[in-house]
Amino acid sequence: MEYGIALIPGDGIGPEIVAQGKRVLDLAAELSGNVFHYHEVLLGGCSIDAFGVPLTEEAVQTCKESNAVLMGSIGGDAATSPWYRLPPEKRPEAGLLAIRKALNLFANLRPAYLYPELKGACPLKEEIIKDGFDLMMVRELTGGLYFGDRYTKEVDGTVTAVDTLKYTEDEIRRVAVKAFDIAMKRNKHLTLVDKANVLDSSRLWRKVTSQVAEAYPEVAFDTMLVDNCAMQLIRNPGQFDVLLTENMFGDILSDEASMITGSIGMLSSASLNETKFGLYEPSGGSAPDIAGKGIANPIATILSAAMLLRYSLDMDREADAAEEAVRRVLADGFRTGDIMSDGCTRVNTQEMGDLILERMRNAY
Ligand code: IPM
Ligand code: MG
Repeated sequence: MEYGIALIPGDGIGPEIVAQGKRVLDLAAELSGNVFHYHEVLLGGCSIDAFGVPLTEEAVQTCKESNAVLMGSIGGDAATSPWYRLPPEKRPEAGLLAIRKALNLFANLRPAYLYPELKGACPLKEEIIKDGFDLMMVRELTGGLYFGDRYTKEVDGTVTAVDTLKYTEDEIRRVAVKAFDIAMKRNKHLTLVDKANVLDSSRLWRKVTSQVAEAYPEVAFDTMLVDNCAMQLIRNPGQFDVLLTENMFGDILSDEASMITGSIGMLSSASLNETKFGLYEPSGGSAPDIAGKGIANPIATILSAAMLLRYSLDMDREADAAEEAVRRVLADGFRTGDIMSDGCTRVNTQEMGDLILERMRNAY
């Protein structure tokens, strides 16, 4: 089979980590006999530098014509980068939001899993993590506060800023269905996270999600208020399987969930629409402080490439081999600086890529 894959290296450490993700895709192609055609796309600060805007229509078109997109990270240091002297709608992040919307990527999957080898990097106490945890955050990605009407204007002599949190029942239903489908393939437990004691939008989330739940009698469905969830994630993360939540809550909780895995450099993510198409990216940011040094952790990007193979191209065997290679490299004691601990061998971005490729080939 032949597939088109759009690559978005982006800014900061993005190009370094996407280079390693691409090596994994190349090896998957070699092992499977499939052919991948790559198309590089600019997004974020690099697109501003080249074209004056964070996302061009051509970039969107190239992504739409591909089977999947592998992305690195976008944005820079807000205190020093000239990109942040532009109006908000012209900054790098606006490009990311625009591409999510343009590609209709409403379901954002962010797994948070504690590798036994990384228990030492987890900031939680041993008695809390016990047997570890393995959860999947499903974040709604194209609605809510991020895309509602917003403005700042003077009202009765006082500057007033307004952001609108709006959801329709259809927007909730489609992501809820995705989340229940995922729960069916995991431990069949889904928790809706909301603020239904205060917000109308959350009450609609409860109503619609409860209706969807009726079609999945095998899935244990419960609800949790978002403030309590923030607490439960550090009190007992092992209680969760699939967490479903709206855009803003998901943004906040997914950073919290990533932190307890030891490093944000370990976490992949997938953003999906109604079809098999998806955009895959590490959960971490562009880390401008270490950009260009060749020391960034490429594992999250490699695991994102594995998700791309699995969800968009149905290449489960190659995805399994890549994920197994990551487990083995950690078991063999190799670490990038962010997850380094005593007795392990410190390696750089490229070396980590080499070690994973070698193991992926053997695991296949
Ligand atoms: C994320 C990021 C983005 C978001 C930013 C960069 C706009 O924090 O992907 O979680 O808030 O969605
Ligand atoms: Mg975020």
